[in-house]
Amino acid sequence: MTEKSVTITSHQDGSQHELPLREGTLGPPAVDISSLYRDAGFFTYDPGFMATASCHSAITYIDGEQGVLLYRGYPIDQLATKASFLEVAYLLLYSELPSEQELLDFERVITTHTMLNENLKNFLDGFHYDAHPMAILCGVVGSLSAFYHESIDVHDPHYREVSAHRLIAKVPTIAAAAYKHNVGEPIMYPRNDLRYGANFLHMMFATPCTDYEPELLAEKALNLLFILHADHEQNASTSTVRLAGSSGANPFACVAAGIASLWGPAHGGANEAVLDMLHQIGDVSNVPKYIDKAKDKDDPFRLMGFGHRVYKNYDPRAKIIREVCHQVLEEMPGANSPLFDLALKLEEIALNDDYFVERKLYPNVDFYSGITYSALGIPRNMFTVMFALARTVGWVSHWMEMMSDPANRIGRPRQIYCGPQQRDYVPISKR
Ligand code: CMC
Repeated sequence: MTEKSVTITSHQDGSQHELPLREGTLGPPAVDISSLYRDAGFFTYDPGFMATASCHSAITYIDGEQGVLLYRGYPIDQLATKASFLEVAYLLLYSELPSEQELLDFERVITTHTMLNENLKNFLDGFHYDAHPMAILCGVVGSLSAFYHESIDVHDPHYREVSAHRLIAKVPTIAAAAYKHNVGEPIMYPRNDLRYGANFLHMMFATPCTDYEPELLAEKALNLLFILHADHEQNASTSTVRLAGSSGANPFACVAAGIASLWGPAHGGANEAVLDMLHQIGDVSNVPKYIDKAKDKDDPFRLMGFGHRVYKNYDPRAKIIREVCHQVLEEMPGANSPLFDLALKLEEIALNDDYFVERKLYPNVDFYSGITYSALGIPRNMFTVMFALARTVGWVSHWMEMMSDPANRIGRPRQIYCGPQQRDYVPISKR
């Protein structure tokens, strides 16, 4: 065995097992335990995958201690301030930044896929008017697998690429349609003369009777938010897409699984939960009471938008979005500034409270994203949909990477069984 290995000793029988260390280009090495059960007869136990790498990936790098986030090596702040969302989407999908021509071609390809099959409208009509847009998004994206299934060969890279393009192009159209369904307005067709973010705003806010000219600042803020949310390596929803896809399943169904996972308040649902929480707190004078509730272990209340599984210093995305959030609130008409004042007070008190300092609980990206979306006129129940729209790029990038990885095998964790020992069936009359 090479010198880069780790030896573990079983205190049960004194046996020793040498396990190789796998190194990437950045970050700590990982102990390769794939042969452990075969050689030593035991599994490893790691609930929540706190210390387990599930794959090799060249897409995104996070250093949670230092607050670093890189997409294909590029720092998130450089991309967020200099690139367009589709430029970043290209980077995530194809590993390199596009040339001018490559970007034009990519934008054209995405634009040609933005429309939905007309029959999907019937599917949308089946939802009750007040269905949560995340439920609609999850269902309708999953239903795309019915439109694109027979032609599928997930082992063909060309097919995979077309599926990725379709998803990036159609999810905004479905997201806006989910909103229109909610408010009882006709679905707006995409406008292919507009940029990605502006087209989304058009599909959200135009009606057949009134045009909508997106504000430049709104488009800029969307571009930034979409970039910040585009990928975040092996989080719950991306791991869900990978796990679902590892069996060779239809990619539209896999992304629907990712949407389901994203919905929870501990993940993408946090932005909606932040606004719910701010409304619940109601006034700056109530902040101390809610800080106490968040610290009380017998109280289920948590400060939504605070803490992160990997960022134990600060969330670099939060730093970027905080500035734009300020700008949007200052310049957009109708922005709810009392709510932002409340958010700032909460942030200030929490950042100086020992409980939050000791546990390194900082505001994460979703503390600010919901407030920003709200100022742009996007309703609260659409926040997680916005996250899903942007993260679709990450999901399909990971799916494509996984499908072309020769080491890919069906994902199948093990368990520590804690149920009854084997026992005999008792006839119902004797129970
Ligand atoms: N409010 C109060 N206490 C908290 C919070 C919070 N938001 N987050 C963590 N803690 C406490 C937790 O109780 C624990 O305390 P102790 O050590 O005394 O038991 C300690 O901090 C460590 O927390 P943890 O739950 O072990 O951390 P985790 O890595 O399992 O959970 C988290 C991470 C994001 C689920 C959690 O911090 C949380 O629920 N935050 C609020 C929800 C939220 O904002 N989620 C969005 C994450 S960013 C978007 C994304 O990338 O998906």
